[in-house]
This record gives sequence, C-alpha cells and structure tokens, in this order.
Amino acid sequence: MSLFPVYPLFPVEIVQGKGCRVWDAEGHEYLDLYGGHAVISIGHAHPTYVEAISRQVAKLGFYSNSVINSLQEELGRRLPQAAGYPDFSLFLVNSGAEANENALKLASFHTGRSRVLAASKAFHGRTSLAVEATDNPKIVAPINANGHVTFLPLNDLPAFEAELRKGDVAAVIVECIQGVGGIRLATAEFMQGLRKLCDETGTVLICDEIQCGYGRSGRFFAHQHLGVTPDLVTCAKGIANGFPMGAVLISPKFEATYGMLGTTFGGNHLGCAAALAVLDVMEAEQLTANAARVGDFLLQAFRELQSRCPHITNVRGRGLMIGIEFDQPIKEMRGSLVRDFHVFTGAASTNILRLLPPLCLTEAEAREAVAKIEEAVKKM
Ligand SMILES: Cc1ncc(COP(=O)(O)O)c(C=O)c1O
Repeated sequence: MSLFPVYPLFPVEIVQGKGCRVWDAEGHEYLDLYGGHAVISIGHAHPTYVEAISRQVAKLGFYSNSVINSLQEELGRRLPQAAGYPDFSLFLVNSGAEANENALKLASFHTGRSRVLAASKAFHGRTSLAVEATDNPKIVAPINANGHVTFLPLNDLPAFEAELRKGDVAAVIVECIQGVGGIRLATAEFMQGLRKLCDETGTVLICDEIQCGYGRSGRFFAHQHLGVTPDLVTCAKGIANGFPMGAVLISPKFEATYGMLGTTFGGNHLGCAAALAVLDVMEAEQLTANAARVGDFLLQAFRELQSRCPHITNVRGRGLMIGIEFDQPIKEMRGSLVRDFHVFTGAASTNILRLLPPLCLTEAEAREAVAKIEEAVKKM
C-alpha cells in the first residue's frame, strides 16, 4: 500500500467518460449520477472543453500571477456577468476549501473581527478556517479548533440574531442547499432575515456555492432562488468541469491591497481556459435551464417512487441536487447500484442517497436513473 488510505473505494477504475456516461477499465458503461462529486458540470470530455484545454496547453500551460493574464481578465468579466453580478470582482484559487478560506479571511480583514457563524451540519472544506467552520468533529484536528466558529441550526433565525446582535461577528457562512449535510435547504425567510441582520450589524454574508452553485440548482446560484445578494460567493467544483479551480466573487464594498491574498497556481492559464469553455457550453446548451427541467422531473419521479416504497422516508432537493432519505443504511444499496446496475451515486450520512449528475443529464437518462434506483431499492 503506497497511498495513504483515507478514501473507501468502489472496486472499479474509471478510465473514460462522455456526457453523463463513464466506462471502467474493462469497458463496462455506467450512468454517472454523482458527477465525480458534483464536479462534472458540462459532461465528461465535452469536445469544446477538450479543444480549449488542448489548444491552451500547447500554447502556454502556466505563468505566474506577476504578469497580465488576459484569460483571467476575461473570466473576471464573464463569470460575474453570467452569475448576474456584473459589478463583483473575482479572486481565483484552486479548490473549494481555499475559496472559503480566502472569503473568511476577506471578511475578517474587512470587519476587523474574528468570529464566524455557520450552520449545523455545514461542510466548508478541510483547510484551517474552512474545516473549523465544518460541523464534523471527526475532521477537525486540535490545531484547527481555535474557537472562531459558532454553529447554529439552519433556518433558526432567532438563534443567529442573538449572536449577530453581539456585534462581534465577521461573517455568516451558509450553503443554501447543504450537500454533505444531507441536501437540506435554507428558506427564503431565513436568508432574507440573515441579509437584513448582517446589514444592521456590519457582518459579511458569505454563500458557499461550491456544491449547490454553478447552475446545479436550476439558477446560476442556489441563493438566487431565495431573494438575497451575498457579499461574497464561493465556487469551485463545476467551475472548470474537473480542472482544479475555485473562486471568490467579491462585492464592490471590499477593498483590495497588494499582497493581502495570493496563490501560486490560482487563476493559471489552463484553468482559465477550462472555466471559459465551461461558460461557453453552459450558455450554448442552456444547462442551467436543463438542470431545472430535468431536476423537476426527477424530484417528481422520486416522490412517486416514495409512495411505492416504504423504505424511502423523504425526497428533497432543487434542480440536479437531490437527496433521497431512507429508513436504513444505504451502503449496500449504493454498492449494488455500481455492481449490478452500473450507476454511480453519492451519499450523505449513512442513509441519504445524494444525486449530483452532470447538468447535461437528459430526460431519457433521468428515466433510466429512476428505473435502476427502483430496482436497487426493491432489493433492500
Ligand atoms: C459546500 C462545500 N464547500 C466546500 C467544499 C470543499 O471543496 P474542496 O474539496 O474543493 O476543497 C465542498 C466539497 O465537497 C463542499 O461541498
């Protein structure tokens, strides 16, 4: 064993992909309802994406952030525009945790404060500040437990208000659809109440859109269903369809000083070429609208399945981010989905099936997904 064994693995190697399908080393085809953990947005091996990256790597793969990078500038214009925030600026990094780390740092610089409020069951990443804001003691090492973060129940506005009124909170960070936490949705009333309280107390509102954003919910960002504009938005995963990239969208009220944030690899030429190709394909193929349409179809179909299947206790989600909760552990069933039905899915806790397919999932593939999951559930 030469790899540090931190990942429980399905006994299969995926070597190829196309759209919402992947193939293992022996040539077996699988339906990908997991999107490589919500990362594949425009589909595997999209020709526009392959062409853009190939062309860029043949020209220039990397140069440092010490010189002008016109691809970065183009992304700095196009991403906020596509998201509906044309006056926001962009800071590019390499992962989701790093995006949250920098957003929390910016909030602290901006307010001069060091407390953070986060929601119970939140997952914000595994680096120092991001993991401290993650409600899972198993992944918080003693060196990360610095007492900056208070966890409060999602949607409990009075609990957040009581802390915010103390006037010492730098930031509230929220996933409007919790992913790892089990596809739990923030309400419009909660988010609008938080926005108002943050304004009144000079607190920064951060929406972590790393999993629920970038078209997945059926709007560009999940918070856009809820009628709020955050001060900072973090994204990663789908932004570059598998090329490692993260970003912080920053409202105009933040001031930059040279050197306050930085990274060697963030915003590199290849990543920017990948992210621009993702935006091209999302626009050309209207993938956000597709996520809304096919997501509605799936939610309806799984609710019908729930009425036929007593093991399913709840179905929830928005767009192509769907949780199916069971009355028992689903480890065996997920294994059977891969082995017997050739379908990849995700999980949250021990009993919630989490579906995060590429945004290009067709209705025919959605029907196939429901039929195969129904067969696997029958074997429970
Ligand atoms: C909501 C959310 N925030 C942050 C992260 C961390 O992202 P990364 O693994 O790219 O650091 C994740 C990853 O699953 C996530 O789902």
